[in-house]
Amino acid sequence: MQSTATDMIVVNTIAAVREAVAKFRASGSTIGFVPTMGALHAGHISLVKWSRREADVTVMSIFVNPLQFGPNEDLSRYPRPVENDEAMAREAGVDILFRPEVKEMYPSEREITVTAAAVAELWEGSSRPGHFDGVLTVVAKLFNIVQPDVAIFGRKDLQQAVLVQAMVHDLDMPLKVIVAPIVRERDGLALSSRNRYLSETDRKAALSLNRALKEVRRAFARGERNTTALENAGLAVLEHETPVKTDYFAVVNGSTLMRERMATEKSAAIVAVHLGSTRLIDNRFLGGDDED
Ligand code: PAF
Repeated sequence: MQSTATDMIVVNTIAAVREAVAKFRASGSTIGFVPTMGALHAGHISLVKWSRREADVTVMSIFVNPLQFGPNEDLSRYPRPVENDEAMAREAGVDILFRPEVKEMYPSEREITVTAAAVAELWEGSSRPGHFDGVLTVVAKLFNIVQPDVAIFGRKDLQQAVLVQAMVHDLDMPLKVIVAPIVRERDGLALSSRNRYLSETDRKAALSLNRALKEVRRAFARGERNTTALENAGLAVLEHETPVKTDYFAVVNGSTLMRERMATEKSAAIVAVHLGSTRLIDNRFLGGDDED
């Protein structure tokens, strides 16, 4: 039973989203789930499309989760275009929009949280200590609230996707996780809610992330397998862009995110940079058709 875009139900309490989901379930519908922090863009909409293909009913959450922001990060300035988000969700065909306040999700001091695996200390985790514990804690809560059959995550946050899959596997959560491809602007910039912070100059410089990743793919396609040589090929592109401050650029196993001495078809190049006060991440797999 696929409902129409116009009847989107908007709720902000856990009880109300549970009730709405239960009604659909009672009529035999399967539930797809797209968790977001809002500031929706075409990348999120592509996740909704995946959900609509996979399940009868799509639930989207919009919650800027304080637990996953460090003390010096952009929690207070994180964009919250509430009306535009609601219109985009409705237009995309979301059936239930769950938009809780912080006090609904975290009414008291937390005594129990999810602790991410060791891989959470690498890459994003080394710049953002505790970030993935915050992500996994809120995702576990959202899974328990919505109880979806399938949940869709974007591959732009590759480390997040890997850790969510590990949590679902290790804690025997009864749902399927789909990791959907990155959506890019025509010029190759990966869509991100944070792109709106970029000045015109920084936006131009941000294109170097994709250029660097493609350079690594080209080197891999020419036969280079040495991880350090591949990383150097990407870093050489980034070094030309003066405003870009590289946080990390690495070639890793795409499933474990561990660095290996030699790259394979399943390896991914991952990158994080600072551009002014904005931090951007991107990645590409070295094998297959991850090219545009
Ligand atoms: O990717 C995001 O937007 C967030 O990390 C998520 C998964 C919604 C958890 O807050």
